[in-house]
Amino acid sequence: MKNSNTNSYDALKAVFFVVFILTFALANSAKAEYADIVINEYSDKAGMRPAVFPHWFHRIRFRCKVCHADLGFKFQAGGNDINMLKIIDGQYCGACHNGEIAWSVENCNLCHSGKPGTPTQVHDSTIQKLVSPTGK
Ligand code: HEC
Ligand code: HEC
Ligand code: HEC
Repeated sequence: MKNSNTNSYDALKAVFFVVFILTFALANSAKAEYADIVINEYSDKAGMRPAVFPHWFHRIRFRCKVCHADLGFKFQAGGNDINMLKIIDGQYCGACHNGEIAWSVENCNLCHSGKPGTPTQVHDSTIQKLVSPTGK
């Protein structure tokens, strides 16, 4: 009897643990969906304003799968090593910003609209608030 109580207590703890992790993970991805993502791995160094990707604006038009599976965008701000050659070649942003699905790559300033010096980040997200105090 005592033994089975201990087991069910452990099971309950395990359930709470899983719920906790899921809540945390989903809360973060939900924030990312609503946020703007600043991508500045190369732009500043090349004298361009950082690129801004409005996630929510895109998310209401396309399913996650279109970008994160079919087009291969990894779930990480700045984690895709995007550059203009790839975009002009039709990869990443260039899969749509080609003058057919969306306005073309000539509209530099529509993407390169970030404040100079803004590092790659999910802007105004939970992640950012957690990360910034460590001085990233
Ligand atoms: C559809 C969005 C989009 C448009 C339009 C766009 N870019 Fe970019 N560009 C990006 C993204 C995203 C990156 C990667 C940003 C980073 O990591 O710094 C990038 C990177 C760059 C870089 C640095 C890396 C490299 O390839 O040299 C330069 C320079 C650049 N763009 C110039 C331009 C110019 C000039 C135009 C207009 C002719 C332009 N971009 C139009 C999205 C765009
Ligand atoms: C139109 C394309 C597109 C769609 C649709 C899209 N995403 Fe994204 N997502 C991106 C891009 C681009 C990035 C940033 C990648 C980079 O910086 O290289 C990103 C980044 C992310 C990140 C990482 C943010 C971080 O913390 O670094 C998460 C999580 C994410 N997306 C979740 C989702 C979910 C969930 C959906 C669907 C509800 C979705 N995305 C739909 C393009 C898209
Ligand atoms: C799956 C297709 C798709 C991908 C991939 C995509 N876009 Fe877009 N994007 C669109 C469409 C469609 C629009 C709306 C075009 C219109 O209104 O004419 C748009 C609009 C935009 C806008 C304007 C938002 C506004 O408020 O008007 C920006 C900025 C932008 N995209 C940046 C990017 C950047 C940067 C990337 C790559 C990181 C990217 N997009 C990748 C389809 C895409």
